[in-house]
Amino acid sequence: MAAKWTPDSWRAHKGIQMPAYRNAEALAAVEAQLGQFPPLVFAGEARNLKADLAKVAAGESFLLQGGDCAESFAEFHPNNIRDTFRVLLQMAVVLTFASKLPVVKVGRMAGQFAKPRSADTEVIDGVELPSYRGDNVNDIAFTAQGREPDPQRMVQAYNQSAATLNLLRAFSTGGYASLDRVHGWMLDFMGRSPWAAKFEQMADQIGQALDFMRACGLSAETVPQLGGTSFYTSHEALLLPFEQALTRQDSLTGDWYDTSAHMLWIGDRTRFEGSAHVEYLRGIGNPIGLKCGPSLEPDALLRLLDTLNPAREAGRITLITRYGHDKIEAGLPKLVRAVLREGHPVIWSCDPMHGNVVKAANGYKTRPFDRILAEVRGFFAVHRAEGSFGGGIHAEMTGQNVTECTGGAIAITDEGLADRYHTHCDPRLNAAQSLELAFLLAEMLNEELKERRAAA
Ligand code: PEP
Ligand code: CO
Repeated sequence: MAAKWTPDSWRAHKGIQMPAYRNAEALAAVEAQLGQFPPLVFAGEARNLKADLAKVAAGESFLLQGGDCAESFAEFHPNNIRDTFRVLLQMAVVLTFASKLPVVKVGRMAGQFAKPRSADTEVIDGVELPSYRGDNVNDIAFTAQGREPDPQRMVQAYNQSAATLNLLRAFSTGGYASLDRVHGWMLDFMGRSPWAAKFEQMADQIGQALDFMRACGLSAETVPQLGGTSFYTSHEALLLPFEQALTRQDSLTGDWYDTSAHMLWIGDRTRFEGSAHVEYLRGIGNPIGLKCGPSLEPDALLRLLDTLNPAREAGRITLITRYGHDKIEAGLPKLVRAVLREGHPVIWSCDPMHGNVVKAANGYKTRPFDRILAEVRGFFAVHRAEGSFGGGIHAEMTGQNVTECTGGAIAITDEGLADRYHTHCDPRLNAAQSLELAFLLAEMLNEELKERRAAA
C-alpha cells in the first residue's frame, strides 16, 4: 500500500532542481497568497483531456504538444501567443488532413516557466552565479541580484498564465480557430517556404470540402466543431511550491487536481523513484507526462507506472521519449516491450528536441532539423517494429521567425543563428520549420496507419 498522499507529502521526499529561497517568510506569504487565487483550469477540463488522450492511447487520435522551452516575462505579448497558437493549429490541420485522425492540441503555454538545469551555477569571465531557473524563479540577467530566487516571481507567473490562458480560450472558441479561416492562418514570412504553398493547396481543398458541406446544411452554425476547437495547456511540474499552492480538491468528485494547467509532466532529471516530483504527481487527477531518456531502465519505468497509474486508467500517462537521433532505435524498444508485456495503457509521444542539442562552432546551442526529423523517423520505426502506436509529438517551437535551430527548407546556417536567437532556454523550431515538421510527420504517420489498417 502506498503511503497517504497529501498536496504537501512531496516535502518529505528528495526534491531536486528547486531553488533555495533565502527568505522563508516571503516564500510562505506567496504560497498563502497563491493558495487563495482562483484555479486556472477546472477539474472537468482535465478530465476531458484525459478522455481525449484515452483515444490517443487506443490509436484513434494523435497528440500534438508544443510551445516554448521556457515562456518569459520579456516575451509576453498577445502577438506571440497568437502566433504560436496559430502554428499549432496549422500543424494540427496538416496532421488531420493527411491522417484523418483527430488531433489533441496541448500547448507548452500559459505556465511553462520553470527550468531544470544541468549545473547549479554558471561561470562567466571567472564570475560564478546561480543558474537561471526560469522566470518564475530568477532573472536571466547575469547579476547577483538577478539570479537570486525571488518568490514574488511566482505571482507574476500566475498572472501571466491567467492572461495567456484567457486569450487562448478566446481564440479557441471565439471564431479565430474556425476552419473557415484556415487560409488566414498563414504568416507573411512563411510565404518563402516551399511548404507554405503546400499549405495553401490544402487550405483550398478544405475550403471546397466546407463549401460542399455547407450546401448540405452543415456549417459552423450547425456543427460547433467546425467553428472552434479544444485547446489544452501544459507545463513541467517542477516548482512544487507553486504547483502545491494551485492544488485544489474537486467539489464534484473529491479528487485533487493541479489547477495550474490541464496536463503536467515530470522531467527527465526529476523522474527517479522516490523523488518529490513523482510523489506530488501521483496524487493529482490530471493527465500526466513522463519524460523518458536513455538512462531510464524498463524495470524502473514499470515501477513508476505502477506508482503513477495504479488503476491503469487510459489517458492518464503519456510517455514522452527523448533519446536523440542516434540512440532512439537502440534504446526505445526495451521500454516499449516492457510496457506492452505489462499491459499498461500509455501514449507514446516523441520529443525529438531534448536529445538533439549541439553546440555550433560560434557557441550557440542549436538543434539541426535533420536530426530532429531522424529521431521522429526512428520513433515510428521502433513502434512499427514492436507493434505499438506512435501517438504523439512534443516540440519546442514558436510562431516567431527566430533563428535557433539549423536547417529546414529555408535553411538556417550556423552563421545565421545570431540573427534572431531569442530563446530563454533551448532552441525552438520557428514557424516555417514547425510547419515543415508537421508535413513530414504527417507522411510518416500515414505510412504507419496504412500498415496498421492493412494488418487489421
Ligand atoms: C523540457 O522539456 O524543457 C526539458 C527540460 O526536457 P527533459 O526533462 O526531457 O530534459
Ligand atoms: Co527545453
